[in-house]
Amino acid sequence: MKKFSIVIAGGGSTYTPGIVMMLLDHLETFPIRKLKLYDNDEKRQHMIGEALKIVLNERAPEIEYTYTTDPEEAFTDIDFCFAHIRVGKYEMRELDEKIPLKHGVVGQETCGPGGIAYGMRSIGPMIELIDWMEKYSPDAWMLNYSNPAAIVAEACRILRPNAKVLNICDMPVGTLRRMSQIIGKTPKELDVRYFGLNHFGWWTSVKDKEGNEYLPQIREYVKENGYLTQIEVDTQHMDPSWQETHKKAKDLLAVDPRFLPNTYLKYYFYPDEVVESSNPKYTRANEVMDGREKKVFSTAREIIEKGTAAGSEFAIGSHATFIVDLARAIAFNTHERMIMIVENNGAIANFDDDAMVEVPCIVGSDGPEPLSQGKIPEFQRALMLQQVTVEKMVVQAYIEGSYQKLWQALTLSKTVPSAKVAKKVLDDLIEANRGYWPELK
Ligand code: NAD
Ligand code: G6P
Ligand code: MN
Repeated sequence: MKKFSIVIAGGGSTYTPGIVMMLLDHLETFPIRKLKLYDNDEKRQHMIGEALKIVLNERAPEIEYTYTTDPEEAFTDIDFCFAHIRVGKYEMRELDEKIPLKHGVVGQETCGPGGIAYGMRSIGPMIELIDWMEKYSPDAWMLNYSNPAAIVAEACRILRPNAKVLNICDMPVGTLRRMSQIIGKTPKELDVRYFGLNHFGWWTSVKDKEGNEYLPQIREYVKENGYLTQIEVDTQHMDPSWQETHKKAKDLLAVDPRFLPNTYLKYYFYPDEVVESSNPKYTRANEVMDGREKKVFSTAREIIEKGTAAGSEFAIGSHATFIVDLARAIAFNTHERMIMIVENNGAIANFDDDAMVEVPCIVGSDGPEPLSQGKIPEFQRALMLQQVTVEKMVVQAYIEGSYQKLWQALTLSKTVPSAKVAKKVLDDLIEANRGYWPELK
């Protein structure tokens, strides 16, 4: 069986240990010969890198393992790059969330002005990663989680149209886990139909392999409880603020009871409520820094101090499951069905060909083959056109260095009430993002 070489870009990410643990649990079906971590922050990566060195020594000493800040070393002789960089780290996420809130606008990592600001930071470094991969390992695939995935995917489509980059999101996978728990199944027993953009979509069917449709049953449950489930179904999306988000799916379903909504629609359908319930001094970035980040780094420290991983555990979630399944699908041509962000080209029949959409695909060694989702209703089509245009205009604003276009993009976002507010938020974001964004004229 062929063995693979992987680099994880954003080695210091809170998700790195989970992905490595998942890889170690699946060496029989996805063998690894080499594993590297790459980050541009030596100090942050060091802790995770050292802890994982101990884990790997104990569990799979045959795997050649290193961590580095040198792109050439990182990207040479690899089959896959798993990317999850956060340009500007939590410090900038905090500003993405707090600046819009100061103006009464949704402050969110990937939606609205915060997502736009993050997009403007992410494009350059993501393209740089792709170029290194193509230079040092031209046959490799990049499986990219780095957010905001919608804007990053559009930037890849425009700037590196032939690159072997697949942009993915774990939200549909995480929510499918909840759905399967609601109906007493496992996610692998189910096939879904889904259409939308990243963090902006709907399920139109959830069937088992015999063809039985569960959507009506799930809908009855979601109508009462949202996606809140009785037992812990995952290790991620579990904090109290996430529970609120799962519950809110109930009010998203009410807007169109035909389809099961992606939880992220709450920022577009109920922005006023989101702002009212946000604490402008303590946002999700603060929760993550006080929660997941502390937990992952204290586990890493513990392993290093003890010199063994025995008795210490890094959590594995649906996030790690998905990326490892995807790598295996490409490596062994499994033709597994997975939701991916791809260029539409008719998959949604009445939507623009050149839009980056999120739909189920069959994944094999040539990458994803999108499955036709037919025509979508006018309500969703109009919402999606507005949102995808925001995403396209951000990428154009980045390339042209255009203040005007970025102002238009913010004005067009359903989360922003007026051009006046858009301008105020934008001017503050420009100030906060100096050194990260291109100069805008
Ligand atoms: P994190 O801050 O813990 O980790 C990100 C790492 O990226 C840091 O160690 C940072 O130093 C590094 N980094 C930043 N810029 C870099 C660059 N140019 N080159 C190399 N490394 C760089 O963040 P996290 O919370 O673990 O999330 C990581 C990323 O994964 C984020 O972009 C997050 O939004 C994304 N994510 C996406 C999904 C999805 O559904 N697509 C799900 C979960 C997380
Ligand atoms: C989901 C989304 C990701 C997003 C993450 C934020 O998994 O699909 O795109 O980055 O949530 O979670 P956090 O716990 O960092 O707020
Ligand atoms: Mn996502």
